This record gives sequence, C-alpha cells and structure tokens, in this order.
Amino acid sequence: MSDDGTLIQAAMDARAKAHAPYSNFLVGCAVKSADGTIVQGANMENACYRLGVCAEQSALAAAQIAFGLENVAQLVVVGGPRHAEDSASGNPVMPCGGCRQAIMEAATLSGRDITVICCDHTGQQHMTTTIGALLPSAFDLPKG
Ligand code: THU
Repeated sequence: MSDDGTLIQAAMDARAKAHAPYSNFLVGCAVKSADGTIVQGANMENACYRLGVCAEQSALAAAQIAFGLENVAQLVVVGGPRHAEDSASGNPVMPCGGCRQAIMEAATLSGRDITVICCDHTGQQHMTTTIGALLPSAFDLPKG
C-alpha cells in the first residue's frame, strides 16, 4: 500500500470508532509526523451537543502527546453518514472552520505547511490540498 493509502486506512479504522450517535455522521482522522509516526482520532459527540469534539481535533490532541504538534506533516480526514456504508462513494469531508484553525496551529509551530487529504466514507481520495490553501489569511497572535 502507498504511504497515503496507509494513512487513509488509519483514518478509516479510526472512523469505525467514532462516537456520533446524535449526528450519525462518522469522521475519522489520521495524522502523520515528519518521521512517519501515525496517530488517529475520531469525532466524539456528547448529549450536550455543543461539547462534541471533531475527529481532527481528537487526532491533533493525540499528535501532541505522541510527537508534538510542531512535527505534524500530513493529515487525512475521512467521513460520511453512518448509513452511507452501502453506497459506492460520496462527497469528501472537508475540515470545518474550527479544525482548520487547529491544523494551522500545528503548521505555525513548525513553520511548514501541512498536507491535508479529504476523503469520503470509502476512503477514496477526493482532494489533496494544504492547510495554507484551506485557511488563507489565518488568524494568529502577534509574536512576542
Ligand atoms: N465533524 C468532524 O469530526 N470534523 C469536521 O471537520 C466536520 C464535522 C463532526 C462533528 C460532528 O460530530 C459531526 O461531524 C457532524 O457535524
């Protein structure tokens, strides 16, 4: 399997563990470090709806523990409705605005852009982009 294929499969495995009983929209994410270490995350919803956590932020928390946000090189997000499993393909899930800011936090720490691959629930690769392209003119605090 290609390197991207391995990372997409890791995101799909994570999606299978999503806790999304309210939206029934399951999202998985895999993050790879510059030296090839992979961590995973999935969306974690809550009966208090607004307290749910997106897959990307869940994976970025794991990345910080495993190798530090400053070493994030690549991120894959896969998603789709729970009952989409029967359909051959769907639309790629795009990181929400808040997740784009969270991914940008990692890019700012490293001074490098981060590759973002967005896929549907089958893991088919639909779009490869970067966080710089997804969040132009990003907010940041002044240095110092
Ligand atoms: N979700 C993610 O996990 N990542 C995104 O970038 C978009 C949305 C989750 C949040 C919620 O659990 C479900 O998808 C529906 O919005």
